[in-house]
Amino acid sequence: MKNIQLDSDGKLKHFLSIEGLSADILNRILDTAQSLHEVAGRAVKNVPLLRGKTIVNLFFEPSTRTRTTFEIAAKRLSADVINLDIASSSTTKGESLIDTLQTLEAMHSDMFVIRHQHSGAAHFFAQHAAPGISILNAGDGWHAHPTQAMLDMYTIKSYKPEFHGLKVAIVGDILHSRVARSQIHALNILGVGEVRVIAPQTLLPEDMHSMGTHVFNDMESGLEACDVIIMLRLQNERMQGDHLPGGNEYFNTFGLTEKRLKLAKPDCIVMHPGPMNRGVEIESAVADGPQSVILEQVSHGIAVRMAVMAMVLGHQSESKS
Ligand code: CP
Repeated sequence: MKNIQLDSDGKLKHFLSIEGLSADILNRILDTAQSLHEVAGRAVKNVPLLRGKTIVNLFFEPSTRTRTTFEIAAKRLSADVINLDIASSSTTKGESLIDTLQTLEAMHSDMFVIRHQHSGAAHFFAQHAAPGISILNAGDGWHAHPTQAMLDMYTIKSYKPEFHGLKVAIVGDILHSRVARSQIHALNILGVGEVRVIAPQTLLPEDMHSMGTHVFNDMESGLEACDVIIMLRLQNERMQGDHLPGGNEYFNTFGLTEKRLKLAKPDCIVMHPGPMNRGVEIESAVADGPQSVILEQVSHGIAVRMAVMAMVLGHQSESKS
């Protein structure tokens, strides 16, 4: 099946999901991010790669990390950035997504970064965008959050030089998590030794075995000898009905505590895409502890998003020349 995020030469023209991308493309994103990360250490942090380009951030759902780091990344690449305030935009008067897209295209935008509560929204934009316009998925419903997965891979790579042989555990609300889906695809494509998911049965999708993961229903066996632990937030806003017993039951069974962290390897890193719910999925002593790399994940989001934007808009320049 044709992957609409690739052009006829196999280069990225949109960035919609990790699924269907090659290890070569993922490694190129990581390598480009590495060289752009070095720019952040300079007195002048900007590079002219996207000078003259206009990037529009369209966030239909709340975001702190993704929206802000996309904006910083675009500005570091010298692009002009527009943050459309959805709450005061004409979408609140019933304007359709396509009309909003075409209206902004008429203002000579080059790229849209879209977050939406509906799975498939970014693909929908990509299917309807004019030729030469690129769409980046900043998280769509339960489906995908590909730049989050890539900044997570970048973070893992900065601590663990080889993906092969690693044991990575993803813990918590896998069912409602677009981040977990994108991470699992990326970890498998990059050749990680073992991808584990640890969750109550009610928060596990049915396709976990076919996605190449090992399923655990308890922390004690799932965390054993892990190199990387990725904690997930309970996505209460996406839950319909009772998935969990009330009170502290979830934290008592699936919360990451200092005691449980000792089950993993001594140099295991602890990750969380944020926002975190302390005392629900993770103990503060772990979130703020020496093995936590949670704030580094946020910082890495800038370089990784710069890399993706540069690669996608690089494709545009090559196709126009
Ligand atoms: N990880 C993530 O997507 O965080 P935000 O919702 O704050 O962007």
